[in-house]
Amino acid sequence: MAKLGVAVLGVGEMGRRHAENLRRLVPDARLVAVADVDANRARRAADELEIDSSFGSLEALLECKGLDAVVIATPDKFHANAVKTVAAAGKDILCEKPLALNLADARQALAAVAKAGVRMQVGFMRRYDPGYSAAMKRIAAGEIGTPVVFKSIGRDKDGPPLSAYASNINGMLFYTNTVHDFDLARWLMQDEVTEVQAYTTVAIRPEVAQFGDVVASLVNLKFQHGAIGNIESHAQAAYGYDVRSEIIGSHGSIQVGSLHKTSATFLTTQGATRLLEDHFLSAFADAYLAEIKDFVACMLQDRPAPVTGQDGLKALEMCVAAEKSHLSGIAIKVGQ
Ligand SMILES: NC(=O)c1ccc[n+]([C@@H]2O[C@H](COP(=O)([O-])OP(=O)(O)OC[C@H]3O[C@@H](n4cnc5c(N)ncnc54)[C@H](O)[C@@H]3O)[C@@H](O)[C@H]2O)c1
Repeated sequence: MAKLGVAVLGVGEMGRRHAENLRRLVPDARLVAVADVDANRARRAADELEIDSSFGSLEALLECKGLDAVVIATPDKFHANAVKTVAAAGKDILCEKPLALNLADARQALAAVAKAGVRMQVGFMRRYDPGYSAAMKRIAAGEIGTPVVFKSIGRDKDGPPLSAYASNINGMLFYTNTVHDFDLARWLMQDEVTEVQAYTTVAIRPEVAQFGDVVASLVNLKFQHGAIGNIESHAQAAYGYDVRSEIIGSHGSIQVGSLHKTSATFLTTQGATRLLEDHFLSAFADAYLAEIKDFVACMLQDRPAPVTGQDGLKALEMCVAAEKSHLSGIAIKVGQ
């Protein structure tokens, strides 16, 4: 069977992992090229990954021979335009979350994908995490009855430097962090969120307020069929990278996620210690690999993308509503 020719646009932290997976761990894919607005970074990545082609722009990348699909891993602000350009070139797409930073851009990107007749997957990789996917299977099998309450926590370890906030190329906390939990809420509860109410704080780092961002947030959710939920997001929890969720149903509950990096417990005269998870790349290593393998398999077998552009749009609608609630102090209907 022919391999899928894939390129990665944006080889920072996330794009680099996708490129490594494609190059080393996905036998059905061929990493054709990498591109980055920082052409030297693209060149270094190509050298380290032992491939020939690197480019300093998307336009140059799209001239590449043997290219079937592009992974978009640029900062958030550039996703929607990149989707439009890649779609117009007739290539399939795996776009990192969030799909866009506003609904107009997201809808234009989806229209471009539809017009070109290409396929697009959005990077909600938690759906591929072994714990979350096992939870989904059991919920779908009815093991906890009807889901009633969704709870989720997403805490990053170290807050971004102030220069990252100032650069204004990524969305605020709801768009970069909570968006994953917004997707999980819809997916695991098998329902749509109709209303959100956000509480936010900058208490431990007031400087981020000038960039329109927050340090931590709680978002309450109302679902269409009567369930409720709550999501906590935190940009700088200091002790570790801590992602956990719980789905409480009419007949039981499922808890997903662990604080621990390994199963080892170290016992000394001082007491017991455990290593805490500290980064998304290690916490979700299996998920990133399963995600890109599934994307490649779907494209090669001409199946639809399993996490769709519509999923990207729905989660974005929740981000937009949460931001409006943060700014207005009232509950906001989603998608209006
Ligand atoms: N799914 C996840 O769990 C996950 C985790 C981390 C990041 N992300 C997403 O991945 C994207 C990248 O995040 P990151 O942490 O790798 O950021 P990063 O800053 O480490 O890397 C971004 C890269 O894109 C390059 N770039 C900037 N503008 C570009 C453009 N217009 N064209 C081409 N390249 C451009 C930069 O030079 C840099 O190399 C973001 O959208 C982020 O939200 C997703």
